[in-house]
Amino acid sequence: MTKTLTLEQVAEAMVAPGKGILAADESTGTIKKRFDSIKVESTPDTRRDYREMLFRSTEAMKNHISGVILYDETIRQKAKDGTPLPKIIEAAGALPGIKVDAGTKPLPFCPGELITEGLDGLGKRIAEYVSLGAKFAKWRAVIDIGKNMPSYNCINANAQALARYAALCVEGGLVPIVEPEVLMDGDHDIDTCEKVTEWVLKEVYAQLYYAKVPLEKTVLKPNMVIAGKKCANQTSWQDVAQRTLKVLKQCVPPAVPGIAFLSGGQSDEDATAHLSLMNQMGPLPWRLSFSYGRALQAAPLKAWGGKPENVAAGQRAFAHRARMNGTATLGKWSAELEKAA
Ligand code: 13P
Repeated sequence: MTKTLTLEQVAEAMVAPGKGILAADESTGTIKKRFDSIKVESTPDTRRDYREMLFRSTEAMKNHISGVILYDETIRQKAKDGTPLPKIIEAAGALPGIKVDAGTKPLPFCPGELITEGLDGLGKRIAEYVSLGAKFAKWRAVIDIGKNMPSYNCINANAQALARYAALCVEGGLVPIVEPEVLMDGDHDIDTCEKVTEWVLKEVYAQLYYAKVPLEKTVLKPNMVIAGKKCANQTSWQDVAQRTLKVLKQCVPPAVPGIAFLSGGQSDEDATAHLSLMNQMGPLPWRLSFSYGRALQAAPLKAWGGKPENVAAGQRAFAHRARMNGTATLGKWSAELEKAA
């Protein structure tokens, strides 16, 4: 079925009502950190077992997950019974996707700032990922807020790289998830996040235009407008939702079919509440959904704890978060619903 979808249809399917994306594309280094937190050794087999548990969560995958972002290792891995992991995702009716950036490196003469690498040879790698079943891709740019940061050089260089990646994807047959992440790690206030997020998105859409990227074939994955984690003044769910929508309306053309947020270190409940509130504030020119990593996986990771006898508990925890976030894409989540479950 999925073989015949156009890129526009894939993009629409990624943000279908009630559904969102599972970001399971942690690099080997990042998944090791996650496993360290539950005292599980990170090996190809434990990584396979953990991800197989998620992808075989039939209820969550069928009803609330539109696509899964995979890491290079995972898209080539087979489940215990020999089925390629992308096939398990497809069997549940979801689309396999692939992280294609090669991570970040320090940006010369811009202390503390990062540039995402991975453009060299990308066209060839995209062709291989298409043959492995990928329908969409992801590239993450990182913008940090701090003293004298971000610089225009950092924003411009990262936006150009995102645009070149997106053009290569569309040309090669993948829907690009365009992810410029303004980090919430610092002590900056929400006003600063608002200004920086607007600047970054303006630059990203300018570069996508220069690179002639057809926006109908793309999905945006932005941060929400939110105070830094170490900021003393944390604002309400309402404030985050209103300011995020205000910035998105200033910057994201209606030709973009959907926006799938990253969770960025928000609590599970905050990430769900913010998304639901924004969806209540319509009508909106694009669909608003999720592409969460931590906010979908923290609970199942803990419930699983690396033990085969906990697979069902891990799947229940994943199904719960997927259902809560699926409900949030319809603007129908509530704290009561969260507690009732
Ligand atoms: P988080 O939701 O944990 O921020 O991860 C999403 C992601 O894919 C970051 O690139």
